[in-house]
Amino acid sequence: MFIRFLVKKVVTIIVFVIVVGIIGYLYISSGLYNVAASDHHTSLTLWTISTTTDNSVRHHAADIVAPNDLMADSLEGFGHYNEMCLDCHGGPGIGREEFAEGMYPLPPTLVGVDSVWTPSQLFWIIKNGFKFTGMPGFGSTHTDKQIWSIVAFTDHLSHMSYRDYMAMQDSLGGESMHEDSDK
Ligand code: HEC
Repeated sequence: MFIRFLVKKVVTIIVFVIVVGIIGYLYISSGLYNVAASDHHTSLTLWTISTTTDNSVRHHAADIVAPNDLMADSLEGFGHYNEMCLDCHGGPGIGREEFAEGMYPLPPTLVGVDSVWTPSQLFWIIKNGFKFTGMPGFGSTHTDKQIWSIVAFTDHLSHMSYRDYMAMQDSLGGESMHEDSDK
């Protein structure tokens, strides 16, 4: 009796999974899902993405240990930030570039991001980026030391004014962090 009941349940579950799979496949094949960046996610999708992202970053950054002299290279970090992050994320009193306004998700301001993520989590995010968002991973083009310097600079961002930022830009005197890659 019991075995029969169990077999019936298992068959029902398998049929259910197959039907859901077929419906899912038909939906994907139909092209009805709108991939446009101008079409925004539902709140359920947003919740799923942000919860998955939070947990993924926490899990993957768990064993990363920040260097003791983390803040030593923050000026170098500014140079990298200024060239590679400012256009998308903006800065203190500085908006993102026009192209980034059309991105979805929008690149958030990083002013105050040091209170959202720990240095190790920021390191992981900057090194690896986020799939399907436009947030690049910088690990293939930058050393760990350079990435830690960017992490250090994000800590300063929260305490800087627009004027401070501009003064730092002037102090670089047009010097580029990426001269080699332009040649
Ligand atoms: C082409 C645009 C682009 C560039 C360039 C870019 N980012 Fe991002 N970044 C994004 C987007 C889009 C997101 C938002 C992803 C999301 O909502 O899940 C993001 C998210 C982040 C986050 C997580 C923010 C949060 O509140 O959770 C950090 C940290 C970050 N970026 C750092 C950087 C740094 C540092 C640089 C430069 C080295 C950089 N990004 C360059 C587009 C960009």
